[in-house]
Amino acid sequence: MHWSRVDDVLTRAGDLSGKVVVSCSLPMNADDTDLVIAHTSSGAEALAKRVPKARVVSAFGTVPSEVLFDVFAARRKATKPSLVYCGDDARSKKVAAQLIRDVGFDPVDAGPLRIARYTEPFTLLIAQLAYEGDEGPELAYRFERFGG
Ligand SMILES: NC(=O)c1ccc[n+]([C@@H]2O[C@H](COP(=O)([O-])OP(=O)(O)OC[C@H]3O[C@@H](n4cnc5c(N)ncnc54)[C@H](OP(=O)(O)O)[C@@H]3O)[C@@H](O)[C@H]2O)c1
Repeated sequence: MHWSRVDDVLTRAGDLSGKVVVSCSLPMNADDTDLVIAHTSSGAEALAKRVPKARVVSAFGTVPSEVLFDVFAARRKATKPSLVYCGDDARSKKVAAQLIRDVGFDPVDAGPLRIARYTEPFTLLIAQLAYEGDEGPELAYRFERFGG
């Protein structure tokens, strides 16, 4: 849901103690032009503060939703797109990594939840390329390591 609905959704969700919460929500302003939280915190960390007993992991928010079906259709190919995720709880990160694999991405563990401070602005770059370019929004990314 949109960031502006988080409080309402959490109220409806009830007690999330011990539950794994996988969030793709970006902390965007009402007209979706800017992040309302950045640099010193992130939407994922703000969410985790709202539900301190839940196991929050940030995942899926770094690609446009339009690409998900194509990635799933290509899931048996050897070369898969990356998808970063981050969180402070090992169990929820395992769940998120499996969901990411199930969709057809190669999960990339980016570290603790505070790394969402970097992944959330990164998504604005992805959105720029996806929605302001001429080639359509079906965009994913892949990290490659060299050396070693
Ligand atoms: N779309 C993308 O490519 C993309 C990429 C990265 C991150 N995100 C993030 O993903 C989130 C959702 O984006 P979206 O594009 O999927 O939005 P969307 O298509 O507008 O869907 C919003 C969803 O939130 C639900 N919702 C709205 N208000 C609610 C409430 N008060 N209580 C319970 N459910 C409520 C809606 O349910 P109903 O249909 O029943 O109203 C709908 O399923 C946003 O935070 C966005 O920043 C999206």
